[in-house]
Amino acid sequence: MTKTQSRPSISPQSITAFSPFWCGVTLAALSALTACQQPAEPGPQDEARAEQLRPQSAALAEKYERSCMVCHSRIAANAPLTGFAPAWKARLEKGMETLVRNAQQGLGSMPPGGQCADCTTEELRALVVFMAHDH
Ligand code: HEC
Repeated sequence: MTKTQSRPSISPQSITAFSPFWCGVTLAALSALTACQQPAEPGPQDEARAEQLRPQSAALAEKYERSCMVCHSRIAANAPLTGFAPAWKARLEKGMETLVRNAQQGLGSMPPGGQCADCTTEELRALVVFMAHDH
């Protein structure tokens, strides 16, 4: 009786041929899940980029350099890094007005006005837009 030989069956070879595909799908699903659950942490490259970035306006760049930059270009300061989008995503969802108000009034270890005594509300807003923008 050769009945078992004529029946189509999944051979070990076909399983091996398929597994890299499924492995890839599973990995992609897993990394998507991880990306959802853990906010991306900034690395040395993100910090180096934050140190390079300046607002286009020279007047604003001057205020940024002497106030916001001290904290917002250093990972160690625990402030959302300038130009590092993942750190700003959840904050932006609160709305730009809330962010500007919190910068004005201070938040956590950020002093009122972000240490910029002569920044107007409009300047703070422009600074927040610059810092939160994905450069
Ligand atoms: C002394 C350090 C320091 C300085 C200077 C500073 N910040 Fe911050 N900033 C922080 C920290 C820390 C946070 C996170 C606060 C928290 O979520 O508890 C923060 C958060 C923010 C946020 C997010 C607020 C929110 O509602 O989530 C904005 C906007 C902001 N800073 C803008 C500025 C601007 C604009 C300047 C400059 C004018 C500035 N910061 C200067 C430390 C600083």
